Formats: sequence, C-alpha cells, structure tokens
Amino acid sequence: MSMEKNRENRYAGIPRLEDYSASPTFGFVEESPSLNLPEYFQRWVELATHTEELIRSGQIRQEVHQLPVLDHTRLDSPQAYKAAMVCLVALTQAYVWCEGEDGIPEVLPRCLAVPLAAVADYLQVPPSMHSYSFGLINWKLTDPDGKVELDNLETLVQICGGSDESWFFCTATQVELDFAPALNSMIEAQKAVVDKDVHKMIKELQTIEGAVHKMKNSFSKMIDGCRPHVFYNVFRPFLAGWDAPAFKKKGLKGLIYEGVSEEPLSYTGGSAAQSSTLQCLDAALGVTHQESQDKLCKSFQQYMPKPHRDLIKAIQEGPSIKEFVHNSGSSKAVECFNNSLMAVKGFRDIHLQIVTRYIIIMSQKSNANKKYLTQHEAGTGGSGFMTFLKGLRDATICTMLGRDLNEHTTTADAVAKTTNGAICKSSRQDVEWSRWKKYIAFLTLCVLVVLLIILIIFLAWTSMVPLYTYIYIWLVWKVILQ
Ligand code: HEM
Repeated sequence: MSMEKNRENRYAGIPRLEDYSASPTFGFVEESPSLNLPEYFQRWVELATHTEELIRSGQIRQEVHQLPVLDHTRLDSPQAYKAAMVCLVALTQAYVWCEGEDGIPEVLPRCLAVPLAAVADYLQVPPSMHSYSFGLINWKLTDPDGKVELDNLETLVQICGGSDESWFFCTATQVELDFAPALNSMIEAQKAVVDKDVHKMIKELQTIEGAVHKMKNSFSKMIDGCRPHVFYNVFRPFLAGWDAPAFKKKGLKGLIYEGVSEEPLSYTGGSAAQSSTLQCLDAALGVTHQESQDKLCKSFQQYMPKPHRDLIKAIQEGPSIKEFVHNSGSSKAVECFNNSLMAVKGFRDIHLQIVTRYIIIMSQKSNANKKYLTQHEAGTGGSGFMTFLKGLRDATICTMLGRDLNEHTTTADAVAKTTNGAICKSSRQDVEWSRWKKYIAFLTLCVLVVLLIILIIFLAWTSMVPLYTYIYIWLVWKVILQ
C-alpha cells in the first residue's frame, strides 16, 4: 500500500489519462457510442438519420419547425447526452445550410437551440459542430463482432454526403484510434524522465513513432472512400460554422440561439484541426510554434472537450522528454526522439498533400456548387492555411536534436543536423524575407506616388498638360469605376 502511495507521489506532476476522459486503448475516442436514446427523444434520431433525404426534398426546415421543445433533463445517462449531441448537431448544420448561402437563417429555433446548448454545456464543449461531436462520438462498427478498424467503421449520422462523408469522418476517427498508444507512451515517457530510465524512454519513443506511422497510413486511405469533389462540393459546405463568409456577407455576427441568447453566437465549423492528437504530440515532444500559429492552435482548443484541453496543458507542464533525451548522452535515445518527430513531420506532409488535393485543386475547378460560392472562395484563399500548415510542419523539424551528438551519428541524427538546420534556417529566413518584402513594397509604392505627384505638378507648371485635364481624367475614372 505504501509502495503504491510512494509511486503516486513520485509521479505527482504527470497526468493520468483516466482523469482526462482519455484511455490507453481508445485515446480520445468514445468507446462505444450509439444513438440509443429514450423513446421520448426518438424524433431527434429519426430526423438526424434522414437529413440527406430531407435536404434533397427541401423539407428539413419544415420538419424542424414542427419539433416540440423536448426536455433535455430526461436524458438519462452520459451516453444519452452524447447521442443527443450527435443528433442535434446534424440537425443544426442541415437546418442552417440546406438552402445555400443566400438562404441562411438568422435564428436557430428553440427546439434545437435550447437542448443543444444544454447538452453541450453538460459535455463541456461549444454548442456547435466540431471534431468531438462529429468524429469522436459519431461512429459504430459495421459488423459489431468485427475488429475496430477503418473498413469496419461507419458513422452514426452524416449530413448529406452519403458513404463519402461517412468515410471522411471514420478516417479521422481511425487516425484518433491509431494515436491511442502514443498518448499512453507520452505519459510513460514522462515517468521515464522522473525515473531517469533511458531504456524505458527509448521503448516509449519507439511506440510513439510506430503509432504516428499508423496514423499516417490510415490518413492516406482517405482517398479510398472519399472523393475530393464530393467532399468539396457536397458536404464540406455543411460543415461550416457561423463565422463563415456567408454570415459576414449578410452582415450577421453569428446565429441567434432562440431561448438561449438574444445576441448572435459565433462558432466556427467542424475541422479535424480541433483534434487533440497533434497538439498532444507537440506538447510531449516540445514542439513550439511561431506566435501567430500558436495562437491559431490555441483557438482550436476552444472546440475540444475541456478535459482534453486540460490534458494538453498537463503534458506541456510535465517533465520535459526533450530535455531528458538531450542530456541523456544516449545517441539511441536521440535517434528515437528524432524519429518520432520525423513521423509527426511525415503526418503533416501527408496532411498537406490531402489538403492540396481536397481543397486547393478542387477550388481551381470550375464546377463548384453555386449555392456555396463564398465558402469556395474562402477555400481558394488556401495560401493562408497552407502557410499555417507548412509553418507547423517546419517547426516540427526544428525541434529535432542533433547538435551535441558524439560519433555514433545515425541516419535520423544526420537528418537532424542537415535537414533541421537547413529548414529552420530557411523558415526563419522566409519570415524575415517576407517582412522585408512588405517594407520594400511599401517604400517602392511611396516613392512611385511621390514621383507621380512631382510629375503632375511639373507638367501642370510648365502648362504642358493643364490642370483641368487631370480633373477631367479623374472624373472619367470615377464614372468608369461606378
Ligand atoms: C480531406 C481531409 C482533410 C482536409 C481537407 C483538411 C484540411 C485542413 C485545413 C484546411 C486545416 C487548417 C485549419 C482549418 O482551416 O481548419 C487543417 C488543420 C488540421 N487538420 Fe486537417 N484536414 C483533413 C483531414 C484531417 C484529418 C483526418 C486529421 C486527423 C486528425 C486532420 C488533422 C488536422 C490537424 C491536427 C490540423 C491542425 C494543424 C496541425 O496541427 O498540423 N485533418 N486541416
């Protein structure tokens, strides 16, 4: 008993997964979610599992308007709350986006808004679509006796993208499942720091690397079941939130949740960027990002369940794996540490390729769904998020160790020494250069404007071109602009 207590005290600064709604086998994924709700809530389930037909027939809003305001306090278990969340989010997204951007409503009706706000509050997440509500608690096994693997997963509900949408969300769920051993090993690696146990550290880092490779492999299967044009044109528009360009275009600051808030509430839509996986890996391996990129990552945290958010912070504040490996004098530990980072970098590389295929290339095609044009335009502004994603990828490499190694240099160490140095340097140079480019462009513009003014004054002064000619040109220009 006292040995047990001793161990607990020893590891006091290290988080325990069970305290953060996470597990070593399922990671952040809910173990067996379902749509089992008391009979009283069956209408939610019926509608949420038929959104696609209701959108197609133009009946979704009518059906929602006929829903009574059900009493959420009759939800009888945490599982029931999760099932309710999945249904209410699907109905909300379908309700908002079913008539295209021009038809977005200003108000979410009470029958959805009140229970959604209450259920989200219970689950400690925002009352909107996010990675938790549509990934972590929205899956089931096709064959209940089969294995938990991508080919045997399907969503409980999807909005309008059929099997492509189901595959999209299940791929994200599978990536989360692959991550589970890495999550466990991060905690164990922090214990190895406390115990100054290099062998254990090496073993845990190898597990992390293996898990991230699996995440990468599952992720690359996205293309097997989710066609880019279906993603881009059919169901991506339905994942958007209330900060989408369509709301801004209509002068709306968000959506009024009737019976909840008289002021519009703004929530961003669903994105796997709200997954806690990569942020945990960054926290454990000591990857730090540039200020603006870090700010964006923190903003994604607002959409994670509070315990998951807290776990990222706890891992960050726990014993430093990087520092321990750095000071261990073990080239094998350094190699394993760097290999883990290379695996994370590999994941981010695949992610960039997928984003290019599913958003950038699709946004350049002319057959975009006309009902959601401003969202597509937002997609074409892809250079913004591509710079962000590349920045995170480069920061991963910059974390690699390699400078203080002895003669036992390994492949990863060599990569760390060469690639790391080169990329970090070029990444820094890129930032510096783009700052300089802005200054140079601004100065050039100023000089050109001054030269133009001097030229005009000179020509007017010498009466080569009388002043009224400029006024005339200016007037014609205004007319053309109008
Ligand atoms: C077709 C599939 C996908 C597309 C088009 C896509 C697109 C994007 C985009 C545009 C961002 C930038 C932030 C934003 O605008 O939301 C992002 C970030 C992110 N996505 Fe995805 N994503 C896809 C699938 C996934 C999956 C399956 C995961 C797995 C967990 C994932 C994990 C992340 C993470 C962690 C970030 C934050 C950046 C980082 O930490 O590297 N994405 N994604």
